[in-house]
Amino acid sequence: MQYSKKVLKHFKDPHNQGVIKNADAVGEAGNLKCGDIMKIYLKIKSPLDKGGWGDYFIKDIKFETLGCAAAIAVSSALTDMVKGMALDEAMKLTKDKIVEELDGLPPIKIHCSMLGLEALHTAINEYKS
Ligand code: FES
Repeated sequence: MQYSKKVLKHFKDPHNQGVIKNADAVGEAGNLKCGDIMKIYLKIKSPLDKGGWGDYFIKDIKFETLGCAAAIAVSSALTDMVKGMALDEAMKLTKDKIVEELDGLPPIKIHCSMLGLEALHTAINEYKS
């Protein structure tokens, strides 16, 4: 199995790893097949005026991942990608975009990219509700 240089870089030196105390939202996702688990912590900045969800953005994001190299690399890249992004925009992020950002993942590891997205979307949905 061949990982891209970007995947290895994110795996060896992950960005945004850790916990946000007093997070505004927390999302968790797990993969039943491999047993890997990921948790996303969000700090969200709300607008002063009453705009739509598009005006709320991710001020800070951290992750904890108990998983494979691909899951950790995805978590690192994903958190870099959505930091500063509006919530609506972050909800539209797809696994293909993350895989593209990492210069590809081995086909057997594509499902690992879903874990991060699920945790992120769960956190955002919880915040909205
Ligand atoms: Fe479980 Fe990658 S093998 S997320």
